[in-house]
Amino acid sequence: MAPAEAARRRPVIAGNWKMNGLSASGQEILLLRDRLGQAPAPPCEVVVCPPATLLHAFSELTAETPIALGGQDCHAEPKGAHTGDISAPMLADAGARWVIVGHSERRADHGETSAQVAAKAQAGQAAGLNVIICVGETEAQRIAGETLDVIGSQLTDSIPHDPGETGGLVIAYEPVWAIGTGRVPGPEDIVEVHEFIRTHLDRRFGDKGADIRILYGGSVKPGNASEILRLTAVDGALVGGASLKADDFFAIITACP
Ligand code: PGA
Repeated sequence: MAPAEAARRRPVIAGNWKMNGLSASGQEILLLRDRLGQAPAPPCEVVVCPPATLLHAFSELTAETPIALGGQDCHAEPKGAHTGDISAPMLADAGARWVIVGHSERRADHGETSAQVAAKAQAGQAAGLNVIICVGETEAQRIAGETLDVIGSQLTDSIPHDPGETGGLVIAYEPVWAIGTGRVPGPEDIVEVHEFIRTHLDRRFGDKGADIRILYGGSVKPGNASEILRLTAVDGALVGGASLKADDFFAIITACP
């Protein structure tokens, strides 16, 4: 990757709250807002993806702040008879500017296929949202030496054929075995996969692909964030557990080079 290319990509630090948070969690958003307000402008885009039930309330708390909100999933259709699902236009209407699709927990818990993930990504883009598409290998796949094959086919099938506005498209590499476990791949393993993803994007989308940011996710904490974020192949982080506490999340944001 040429240094000029890296300079073009603004890092993203995104927090994925998963199925955590009640209205009282607005306190953490207020705290994060205060921390950010007292510090120099963050060197990255800051995104918080709370449960959809909190988006509207949080959008009021984050107005005119550097904190953007996102959904954790969306349906591929904009509306219709899909009980319990939430569409991308609904997320946007509730104040989201981002959406995560294809998280490994959705792929595992709901059997989501990469083709479905691509349809959701497209729906997110059609609603004007920035889209984070997650990919990652299981521990068994890593041990079997299949990591790059798995990531390659997830990328091929999960990224829409027409990637649209690539500046709003983000890939999160999240090894399944590193999520919520406190285990993190070594820097050389992270770089290997990120460079593999970058090559895939270059081959597939040419110059446009250079705008797509590649985040690392899986047990990112204040204690390991700077080691991960200073890798030039890494354009930011998708943070689960450590995004729930404003102080931890703020420490990760400020670890961004
Ligand atoms: P974790 O989760 O930071 O708690 O490991 C990351 C994620 O699932 O996005």
